[in-house]
Amino acid sequence: MDNKKDLPIAVMDSGLGGISVLRELVKIMPNERFLYFGDSINAPYGTKTKPEVLEITRKNLALLKERGIKAFVIACNTATSVAAKILREENPELLIIGIEPAVKPASELCEHPRVIVMATPLTLREEKFQALVARFSGKGEFLPLPCPGLVELIETGDVESDEIREYLTKLFEPYKSKRIDAVVLGCTHYPHVKALIAEQFPAETVVLDGGEGTARHTRRRLDELGLLRDAGEGEIEIINTSENENMIEISKYLLYR
Ligand code: DGL
Repeated sequence: MDNKKDLPIAVMDSGLGGISVLRELVKIMPNERFLYFGDSINAPYGTKTKPEVLEITRKNLALLKERGIKAFVIACNTATSVAAKILREENPELLIIGIEPAVKPASELCEHPRVIVMATPLTLREEKFQALVARFSGKGEFLPLPCPGLVELIETGDVESDEIREYLTKLFEPYKSKRIDAVVLGCTHYPHVKALIAEQFPAETVVLDGGEGTARHTRRRLDELGLLRDAGEGEIEIINTSENENMIEISKYLLYR
């Protein structure tokens, strides 16, 4: 392809999570061509080790680069924490965008908010997260909440199941009598169950995710590099590493619902 602007933007996640970011990307860049890579065969990333997730993400990027891409959006908090910095150093010619839990917007919601930050165990263990919370610790109280097992439930595609409701009820039990101003969805799978999370809290509790901010950041960076595709018809290609053929259908269902 002669024009680099016409190359697709690759969007990667451990499975269905990054679809919640893809949705925001498509909304604000309807002329772009997107190549979504759901690595469901390796899901979940969040309970793997750091070297494992780095290696998997590196391989996925190599595969996507072979197809020809103009940007790589790591639509996964876990892979971003572990791999974004290293992959940027290894691929200086490529625009690599990461995602981080929406701690900053949460810190600005009110005077000293109490905020639950839901994420995978690996994201919460990583230095990147510790540094993020340290930066805003003077502005609010941030309560990290690892959610092992939730990604697997969302990967079934049944995002309104009783099992997910039961999981969430148990998860939030310790916070029932406490004032919580916001819940940050620090894993891209969780926006698929945003309504179920919101129903666990009073109406004034704000539920935040980083998808829209990441999409705006991606557009801004592409624009700065002269890589925005301002005309032409948009396209979305979805690939998934799972042997379960339904994953593409489930991805589309989650994208358009
Ligand atoms: N969706 C991913 C994230 O944002 C990864 C979840 C997982 O595979 O554990 O962290």
